[in-house]
Order: sequence, then C-alpha cells, then structure tokens
Amino acid sequence: MEQGKFITFEGPDGSGKTTVSTAVVKRLQEEGYAILLTREPGGSKIAEEIRNVILDPANTAMDERTEALLYAAQRRQHLVEIVLPALAQGTNVISDRFVDSSLAYQGCGRHLGMDAVMNINQFAIEGHMPDRTIFLDIPAELGLERIQKNRAYLDRLDQEDISFHEAVFEGYQKVIRQYAERMIIIDASREVNEVIEDSYQAVKGILDGTR
Ligand code: TMP
Repeated sequence: MEQGKFITFEGPDGSGKTTVSTAVVKRLQEEGYAILLTREPGGSKIAEEIRNVILDPANTAMDERTEALLYAAQRRQHLVEIVLPALAQGTNVISDRFVDSSLAYQGCGRHLGMDAVMNINQFAIEGHMPDRTIFLDIPAELGLERIQKNRAYLDRLDQEDISFHEAVFEGYQKVIRQYAERMIIIDASREVNEVIEDSYQAVKGILDGTR
C-alpha cells in the first residue's frame, strides 16, 4: 500500500493555523481524501497529558531544557502512536505543528540553539520529517495582538513578552531558509478566507502530486 503524505502547518501564535488547517481538512475530506488532522503538542492521550504540563501557566519554574525535552517526548509518543500508523495505512496526516516549532520556539525563542534542539529531536523522530510544510507567515506583533484580542485563555507560552515572540519569528525565518525545499509560505496577515483558500490549493496540490 502507498504511504500517506505527512504535511505540517507551522507559524507563530496567532497565525490562524488551527482555524485554517481545520477548514482545509474538512473540505478535502468532503471531497473524499483520506486525511487525519492532528496536533502538537498533543494528539494522543499521553502526549496531551504532557501538553498540559508544558502549557500550564502555573508551571513558572519550568527549566528551558526541560521544556525542550518535554516537547520532544510528546512528539515521540504522538509520532509512533498516531502519525506513523496512519501513514502506513495510506492515510494522509496533517499535523498542526511538528519539529519546526521546537526549532523556532526552543531553539531561538528560548535561545537553546537550533542544532542542540534538532539533536534531541532526532532521538525522538528517528529521521521522520514532514514531506511538506505550509508556513503561515505573520509578523510577531500582529500574531500576538490577535491572540490577546481573541483568546479567553492564554497558555504559558502565549504569556511570554514580545521579545520572545520576535525571537520565535526570527527562528522560523531561519527554519524556512534551512528547509526551503519543503516549505510553502502563505501570507497569513490577510483575511482568513483568503488564507484558507491558498492553503487548500497548496495541500490539494501536494496530495494530487502537482506541487
Ligand atoms: P498551539 O497554540 O499551537 O496549540 O501550541 C501551543 C504552544 O506550544 C505554542 O505557543 C507553541 C508552543 N510549542 C513550542 O514551543 N514548541 C513545540 O515544539 C511545539 C509543538 C509547540
């Protein structure tokens, strides 16, 4: 059986990844594509429990390396329990975030260094990288403004100041340059329906083998 495609959505907080990926997957499923939509941190019971520990605003004592290791741990669990079995069955998997988030947030936002963060993640992912990545591009300030306006609950990372989110944005720019061949960059500062339409066309193209 042919392996499914592994596609990730990435972008800073407030880029609209969750809204956009949900709308895109719904439309493609209605057209008959076999797609599983999942997310990180989380996506399986154990990984969701790790998510709660990482994002709990009360966990102010969390060390930055502990945070990076917990993201890698939830990734491992989610990958072996959910992503790889689905791909092996021929189902396409779309994940709202994956390893690029750790490179940008822990590597650059937390200043642990992208190489160090990639090294601990290699232990978790054993070379399994996404086939393609849809990057929803938005300036840090606009993203932060959106989440502060629209979300009732801000998790531990959302609550970080603008300098953290700017470092994450810079981190993503490095990730985009390093993995240019798998990136599709979409301007997410536009109206959400335009972002959904472009993302839909991109994912459909990947699934049909035209992109
Ligand atoms: P979410 O808001 O997309 O659900 O993600 C929760 C937060 O976790 C978000 O601020 C980004 C952050 N994050 C990391 O810092 N590193 C990672 O590896 C992942 C997957 C998410």
